[in-house]
Amino acid sequence: MERFDNPDKFLHDAWHLLIKAAIKRKGDYQKPSVATVDSEGFARQRVIVLREVDFQQRQLTFFTDARSRKVEELSNHPHLSCLFWDERKKVQIRMNAQVILEQGSARCRQYWDRLPVQGRSSYAALSAPGTPQQTDNVPLPNHWHDEMDLQETAYAFEHFMVITCQVYSADLLHLHHEGHQRAQFAYQDGAWAGSWVAP
Ligand SMILES: Cc1cc2nc3c(=O)[nH]c(=O)nc-3n(C[C@H](O)[C@H](O)[C@H](O)COP(=O)(O)O)c2cc1C
Repeated sequence: MERFDNPDKFLHDAWHLLIKAAIKRKGDYQKPSVATVDSEGFARQRVIVLREVDFQQRQLTFFTDARSRKVEELSNHPHLSCLFWDERKKVQIRMNAQVILEQGSARCRQYWDRLPVQGRSSYAALSAPGTPQQTDNVPLPNHWHDEMDLQETAYAFEHFMVITCQVYSADLLHLHHEGHQRAQFAYQDGAWAGSWVAP
């Protein structure tokens, strides 16, 4: 990527890289590492697919199984940190956000209705993610297959959770052969305020 002329352009373009990844449903920026804090204060990370991005609202949207450990952690400490890196673009994007956990709402239903059988399988397991088991079998019902009637997957909606992240700070790094660029931002009093920092 070209070097950025100013921090605001850097922030604007970073958000748009994320928007593009979510819309196209591909690329490194679509699979960030997302960190939560566990009950002992340790960071726990995992890769999660970025589903939707809203620059005006400063929101990132993820889906998860409501029974997963990250949800318990987010219930206790409703903040997360997202790390995005694209090897080709050479731009690292870190964002911190407050989260809203949503289950069973009309908005959840809208997302759910758009998911095919295969997409729904992530929420359809008979046991909660992380439950010890005797074998490596995926704990889906016996009748589960990709061409099944969507109606038969309806029960899994109760496990489907939407995580909305309200981003309040960002740290951007651009690796460039003419000199690396880094900028930090915080959302304050209704606007983003940011500046270059030493990389
Ligand atoms: C490429 C990739 C995409 C993933 N997408 C999701 C996702 O969208 N939502 C999700 O909850 N877990 C997703 N996972 C699984 C998580 O990384 C993690 O293993 C799982 O959610 C359990 O995490 P937890 O114990 O911290 O809750 C994905 C994993 C990979 C490797």
